[in-house]
Amino acid sequence: MTLLPPEIERVLVPAEQIAALVSRLAAQVNADYAGGELVVVGALTGAAMVTADLVRQLAMPVQMDFVSVSSYGDQTVSALTLPVAGHNVLLVEDIVDTGETLARLQAALLAQEPRSLRTLALLDKPARRKVDVSVDYLGLDIPDEFVVGYGLDYAQRFRNLPFVGVLRRSVYA
Ligand code: IMP
Repeated sequence: MTLLPPEIERVLVPAEQIAALVSRLAAQVNADYAGGELVVVGALTGAAMVTADLVRQLAMPVQMDFVSVSSYGDQTVSALTLPVAGHNVLLVEDIVDTGETLARLQAALLAQEPRSLRTLALLDKPARRKVDVSVDYLGLDIPDEFVVGYGLDYAQRFRNLPFVGVLRRSVYA
């Protein structure tokens, strides 16, 4: 059993629920791309967990890559290792908040002229949206609270928690 660190107020999405969400999303992706191939691009670092769990449930031939958006300066998107021109690409995000990161990632990938681009996000905070971005596969809407775990961090901590939990306000306020 995982102990609850004192900085975590409560568990919001238990590990079992995360697993069920990822399985449901994988089933949707499998149905949509049956007979095709897919390049899965995970957004670092937060989406490392969901990307790893998702691809192991995909039935079609899959290639994997990762991108990162620098969180300072001009928010540059890192280069991909794989060529994606002409391929079906699935961008995987951990959480959509304002939508700015996702919009930037989608624009950077579209500039490389994939055959198609769809986006999967495990979590969404719709109350915080500033940019209208499209998410094709969505795990769960959550309230406007700062969450950590299953890849999500606060100051690079808590990514390794197997659940998604609400961070106590006293930690960051
Ligand atoms: P956006 O650009 O505002 O949509 O923010 C997206 C990114 O901010 C995500 O990929 C996360 O890295 C980070 N983020 C947003 N909300 C949270 C949160 O509640 N916990 C941890 N990271 C978050």
